[in-house]
Amino acid sequence: MSDFNLDTIDIHTPELYLERGYPFAEWDFMRKEAPIFWYERDEIAPFWSITRHADILTISKNADIFVNSKRLRLQSKEDDARQEFSTNLRNEQRGWDPNEVSDFIFMDDPRHRNFRLISAKRFTPAALRKVEGHFAQMSHDFASEFLTELKGAGKRGETTDFVKGFAEKLPLAAIGEMMGLPNGDWKRLKQITNVMIGAPEVDFFNEGEDRNTGVWRAMDEMTDYMIGVIRDREARGPENDDLSTQIVHAMLDGKRLTDQQLQGYLFVILAAGNETTQNAITGGVAALLEHPEQVKLLAENADNEDLIKSCGEEILRWTSPVLQFARTAVEDFELSGHTIKAGEDVGMWYPAANRDPAVFDEPYNFDITRTPNRHLAFGGYGAHFCLGANLARWELRAALRALAPVLPQMELVNGPERCPNLHVSAIHRLEVQAA
Ligand code: HEM
Repeated sequence: MSDFNLDTIDIHTPELYLERGYPFAEWDFMRKEAPIFWYERDEIAPFWSITRHADILTISKNADIFVNSKRLRLQSKEDDARQEFSTNLRNEQRGWDPNEVSDFIFMDDPRHRNFRLISAKRFTPAALRKVEGHFAQMSHDFASEFLTELKGAGKRGETTDFVKGFAEKLPLAAIGEMMGLPNGDWKRLKQITNVMIGAPEVDFFNEGEDRNTGVWRAMDEMTDYMIGVIRDREARGPENDDLSTQIVHAMLDGKRLTDQQLQGYLFVILAAGNETTQNAITGGVAALLEHPEQVKLLAENADNEDLIKSCGEEILRWTSPVLQFARTAVEDFELSGHTIKAGEDVGMWYPAANRDPAVFDEPYNFDITRTPNRHLAFGGYGAHFCLGANLARWELRAALRALAPVLPQMELVNGPERCPNLHVSAIHRLEVQAA
């Protein structure tokens, strides 16, 4: 621990996440030595780095003081500039409002609440109960397909990628079906979102095309796709029951949302749960395979709903698929003895909070029976608490039930391979083989 120095410690370089995974040792050091630390580096705009569970909760619960509308994510100055450039270009080309934000995560209440409420009822346990049986069936089918693939590869002496073979399928199918998007489109949509977060989707890029141009083309294609969905739902009228229809025909202050607002809304619903849930499933399976005694416990008790639930929660804590969100203080605030001044940004590192020994006994023990488990994988219980938390939990549990008999038949070959992204350091590959 003492090897680190607060002046040089690096928790912001995405490429380092590829080499070492999440910087847990660095966060532990910071949580102990400087849990509220003014982080200033050349490549990134400065922010207060927050690593304690209690401080993240305080910030999230004070959404009127720590707002979303100014700086929402920690990313390099280069990425800030690239994002600004492409958003401005798109707005200009499409004649859109330059002052409108990308989606409702960037809004503050009461506007944020009004936008969120358009879809919130679709994500309640009552609404999800209707699709529970279907999720179970899909997970079961995907698990059987995967087992066949795993065994086939084993006979040929080959390994298999768990991400492509299982983990990416359920999140995509679940949200694709809820939104009523044709399943022939899902693969392309997934590829486009992968490009946008930095996954090595080599097939997407044209010959000689640089990354920036490719990412711009991906964003443009996604925008066109969502505009197509909007026109289609308009033509079909408000009667359909899918989530896209509900969003497209929603009324706020007596008006429908604009194309610009609608495509942002549809995109965030499609994308927010895809990489995250896929990461939780992949990271969870990697953790389980590294702990064979926990695989045994799960496989022998797969009909124990309490264990399925606690296992899902431990996987969320352990994997923490979202690295951080930022906020900006709009007035001075005393946070655990530090004054955060109006205009200053804070960055909340959720995985760091999820290893905070003040809240979790032996935080580095992966324990699928852990209860209580007050992790912050879905954020800090404030106004922006993950809209899809129930959906993600139900998907994760369905995946665990279906995978419980498969896990004892597989082995980890290579640990998770990540994408260089400081917001969702998504796992794009996990190599496994038949045991
Ligand atoms: C394991 C999977 C997931 C994780 C770890 C995750 C994590 C998060 C986190 C950390 C936030 C920010 C919370 C805050 O600022 O307080 C968030 C917000 C959000 N999530 Fe998720 N999420 C997951 C799955 C999903 C799914 C399946 C959806 C599907 C719709 C979704 C949609 C959203 C939306 C729309 C927001 C913004 C909410 C708002 O600003 O009001 N997420 N999520």
